[in-house]
Amino acid sequence: MTEMDNFKLTTFISEKDIQARVRAIGTALTDKYRGKDVVAVCVLKGSFMFYADLIREMDMDLACEFCGVSSYSGMSSTGEVKITLDLNSAVREKHVILIEDIVDTGLTMNFLKDHINRRKPKSITTAALLLKPHALKVKCELDHVGFEIPNDFVVGYGLDYQGYYRNLPYIAQIQSIN
Ligand code: IMP
Ligand code: MG
Repeated sequence: MTEMDNFKLTTFISEKDIQARVRAIGTALTDKYRGKDVVAVCVLKGSFMFYADLIREMDMDLACEFCGVSSYSGMSSTGEVKITLDLNSAVREKHVILIEDIVDTGLTMNFLKDHINRRKPKSITTAALLLKPHALKVKCELDHVGFEIPNDFVVGYGLDYQGYYRNLPYIAQIQSIN
């Protein structure tokens, strides 16, 4: 018995459907950026799996950088974004591809765009696997989105609930069974 036995998971986006969208986004990014000086930025922790799959679908040279933010507590956003791991200066004068797992209120993505812009990149492009359009609290422009989803909490493929479920190869909806 673990604490997670009190939750039921329902597959929401299959591994196969995720891989097909990731491949399409990877191809689009390759067409746009091949031959340019690119830094792919992974936003930890949630986007580690999407990031690892996406960069492998990009048939070009690129540099990898990692940053960490946190704004979530349990199943809701606190509205306050904190940097847990900062980027170094590697993005200066480079084309940055900012890779996020999910855009919910939009606060994290906008915060990161501002934060990176201050380091004077040549450009910033955003890719998010998931977008909850009805949860947006601020206007947030995204260049590549894998799937638009309803305003429900999801886990898997990097996304967690209390640190668990990140290792699922698919996206699931989670319900308490008590
Ligand atoms: P935002 O700042 O509200 O857009 O939240 C973005 C961050 O909240 C994401 O990068 C996730 O880490 C987390 N998050 C938002 N929705 C979910 C969800 O449904 N499941 C798991 N994490 C989520
Ligand atoms: Mg995240």
